[in-house]
Amino acid sequence: VSSINFTPLHDLDGTITPNGLCFERHHSGVARVDPAQHRLMIHGFFDKPLVLTMEDLKRFPRQNHVYFLECAANSGMEWRGSQLNGCQFTHGMIHNVMYTGVPLRLGLEEAGIKPEGKWLLAEGADAAAMTRSIPMEKALDDCLVAFKMNGEALRPEQGYPVRLVVPGWEGNMWVKWLRRLEVGDQPWHHREETSKYTDLLADGVARRFTWEMDAKSVITSPSPQAPITHGPGPTVLTGLAWSGRGTIPRVDVTIDGGITWHEARMDGPSTPKALHRFYYDFEWDGKPLLLQSRAHDSTGYVQPTKNALRAIRGENSIYHNNGIQTWAVDAD
Ligand code: MTE
Ligand code: CO
Repeated sequence: VSSINFTPLHDLDGTITPNGLCFERHHSGVARVDPAQHRLMIHGFFDKPLVLTMEDLKRFPRQNHVYFLECAANSGMEWRGSQLNGCQFTHGMIHNVMYTGVPLRLGLEEAGIKPEGKWLLAEGADAAAMTRSIPMEKALDDCLVAFKMNGEALRPEQGYPVRLVVPGWEGNMWVKWLRRLEVGDQPWHHREETSKYTDLLADGVARRFTWEMDAKSVITSPSPQAPITHGPGPTVLTGLAWSGRGTIPRVDVTIDGGITWHEARMDGPSTPKALHRFYYDFEWDGKPLLLQSRAHDSTGYVQPTKNALRAIRGENSIYHNNGIQTWAVDAD
């Protein structure tokens, strides 16, 4: 079964997503994989193709990194207009986890990549056999072959016993139940990089290989599922911001629909390609509000309005909607 559920962002604080609250996206159900039977095959343009057991994998030097995973389709229902009432549904296809794993580079170097090897194919052991082409430059940069999340074993829903971590890039490439890595000299043009996960523009041309997740933010509270429950007076506004290209040094917040903007207070860890937490503490006068947040990332990129995005990308897209989200608060 193709299925999806959503991270309850409105109920969370800080930046780490607890394992049991991570959203799940399965193109063909949750695979049940016996770690003792599982093998990771590394083949193609290599000097010595490898077949690794989980025990083999755990003998490579490992690292810990916190990264967000955002599905390319997160906020995808909102391209043509607002549809969903709550940040769990508009923005909840994201989680932020500390992964323990082996740098993918180490596995590839162990097998000895031939000079012709320019692309990597990653394949999952589920019924969907999820397959994506990844340029070698990224594979050798910061990708991880991960077997732990927030310290414990990956959950079956998150790819137990092993998944690929592709920091800052669309969630679809983070292949779960990873069973095969093939190196070739060109991309494979599989279903998930042709018919799906491409961005159809107004003129009928589809943007392809739009891997990086652009800077984005959302106010998690107040929001439709987390309304203000007190009267006028001190009020805490909070939200999340992230960028697939680096950190978030700054978030702006408005409570009057963009007439006046205020710099939010960042609080908590700031590491590249991970969620950042922001706060704006204000005195509510009891009148209606229009809440928005706008992320700035470490490359200088500023999160656009939805209308600015629509002007460039049209309204056919599902993927990569990083536009500014508005929540309306009524006096009551
Ligand atoms: N890997 C496999 N093998 N099968 C899948 O269906 N779904 C992809 C990706 N990796 C998928 C997969 C998609 S579309 C996303 S957004 C992420 O996994 C979701 O990861 P999660 O379930 O840990 O949230
Ligand atoms: Co996805």
